[in-house]
Amino acid sequence: MKVIVVNNEKGGVGKSTIAVHLAWYFAEHRKRVLFLDLDPQSNATTTLSAQIGEPEAAAFFARPVAVPPLSAPGIRVAAATPALRGILTVDRKLIQQFRSNLMDASRVFDMAIIDTPPTFGARNLAALIAGHFVLAPIDLDDYAIDGIETLLKHIVGVKEKYNPDLTFLGLIPNRLQTTSPRQRDNLKGLVRKFGTKYLFNGVIPQRSSIGEALAEKKPVWSLPKTAAREAGREMRTVFDKLAAKMELT
Ligand SMILES: Nc1ncnc2c1ncn2[C@@H]1O[C@H](COP(=O)(O)OP(=O)(O)OP(=O)(O)O)[C@@H](O)[C@H]1O
Ligand SMILES: [Mg+2]
Repeated sequence: MKVIVVNNEKGGVGKSTIAVHLAWYFAEHRKRVLFLDLDPQSNATTTLSAQIGEPEAAAFFARPVAVPPLSAPGIRVAAATPALRGILTVDRKLIQQFRSNLMDASRVFDMAIIDTPPTFGARNLAALIAGHFVLAPIDLDDYAIDGIETLLKHIVGVKEKYNPDLTFLGLIPNRLQTTSPRQRDNLKGLVRKFGTKYLFNGVIPQRSSIGEALAEKKPVWSLPKTAAREAGREMRTVFDKLAAKMELT
C-alpha cells in the first residue's frame, strides 16, 4: 500500500479538493483506496459521505483497528469526527499507533490518501511520519508564497528526523488564474526559486466547475458540461504525472 499525504498548513489551498479527486482517480484505476480525513472541519468526509465506513479516523490514533476490506476497487472513508480535535499534542504513542494501524490496513488496500488539517500538530505529523509520498497544493497569491519556505522546512524536517522513506512529490500550484499577470509572475518566481526539485511539473487552474462538482459530490470530470470536462482533463493530466512519479499506473 502506498500512503499519499496531502499537506499544507495554509488553509484553503485545495488540499481536500485534490485529496478527494485523487481518491476518485485511483478508484477508477481499479485501486482499493483507504481515505483518511484528519481534519475535523470534515470537508472531504462530507464530499465522500457515500463511502464512509468503520472505523472513524480518530480511532487510528487511539487503539488497534481492523479496517474491513473492500470487495472491489473503490474507496473506504475513515471519517473525520469531533474526536479528532482531542488529538493535539505530539505524543509518540499516538503517532506509533496511527502508523501501525496504517501498516495493518496495507494488507487489504492498495493505497491510502490522507487529507490533513491546516494546522501543524500531532495529526499532521503522524500523517507525514506514516506517509510514503507528500504533495503540497499551494496558492499563487502573494501571501501564500510567503509561507512556502516554512512548509518545505517542515516536510524536509520530518523526512530527515523521522521518516527517511518520505518522498516529496512537490508543490502543486492550484487555482491558477491563467489570465492574471500577477499570478503568472508569481509562478515564474517560484520556478526560479524552487526549480524542479520542489515544484511539481504541472498546475491546476481555477475552474468554477470544480466547486460545482464538489457540491454534487462527484469528480469534476464526470459532470456533463464541456467546461467541467476540460477542468477534469486538466486535473487528470496532473494526476497521470503524479501516478507516473509514484510508479502507480
Ligand atoms: N482549482 C480550483 N478551482 C476552483 N475552485 C477551487 C479549486 N481548488 C479548490 N477550489 C475551491 O477552493 C475552496 C478551498 O478548497 P479546499 O477546501 O480544497 O482547500 P483546503 O486546503 O482543503 O482548505 P482547509 O485548509 O480549510 O482544509 C473550496 O471552496 C474549493 O471548492
Ligand atoms: Mg481541507
